[in-house]
Amino acid sequence: MKVVIYPGSFDPITNGHLDIIKRVSKMCEHLIVSIIYNPNKSPLFTLEERARQVKGAVEDYPNVTVETFTGLLAEYAKQKHAVSIVKGLRAISDFEYEFQMALMNRKLCPDIETIFLMTSNEYSYLSSSIVKEVARFGGCIKGLVPENVRKEVINKFSN
Ligand code: PNS
Repeated sequence: MKVVIYPGSFDPITNGHLDIIKRVSKMCEHLIVSIIYNPNKSPLFTLEERARQVKGAVEDYPNVTVETFTGLLAEYAKQKHAVSIVKGLRAISDFEYEFQMALMNRKLCPDIETIFLMTSNEYSYLSSSIVKEVARFGGCIKGLVPENVRKEVINKFSN
């Protein structure tokens, strides 16, 4: 079984992430969406909340499972016997950071390839951060995140 890992903070998952999940799930036997603690970010949702949200969003994809992890992505990918790590690329601004991480992950685990998928046009402006900013100030986030997640984001900011 060829396992591919799609790692990220998913704080929260957006329709751009979901588009990548849908496309990658057609290319591999088992896709693990791995919600990974990013030490550089202060998340809005806990890992458990995010796992529940992502599970709700991917329930139509039978070969996709969801996990959480805190630690080195390269170690985790090795533990899972993954053949590759997949990342979405939106713009040139993503490239430098992603390139650095891909090379570091290769240094830590040379057998696992990082594969980049270009975002679909309609989601190229979308990020978890911009969704949170719009929701924080009461803007409409319909169509930007899965419906099960939209209400949770709105609730978080109304408390
Ligand atoms: O969605 P994000 O926040 O851009 O995802 C980044 C993430 C979580 C994939 C990255 O920060 C990561 O891999 N973190 C785990 C710790 C690690 O392995 N760091 C070294 C990366 S080369």
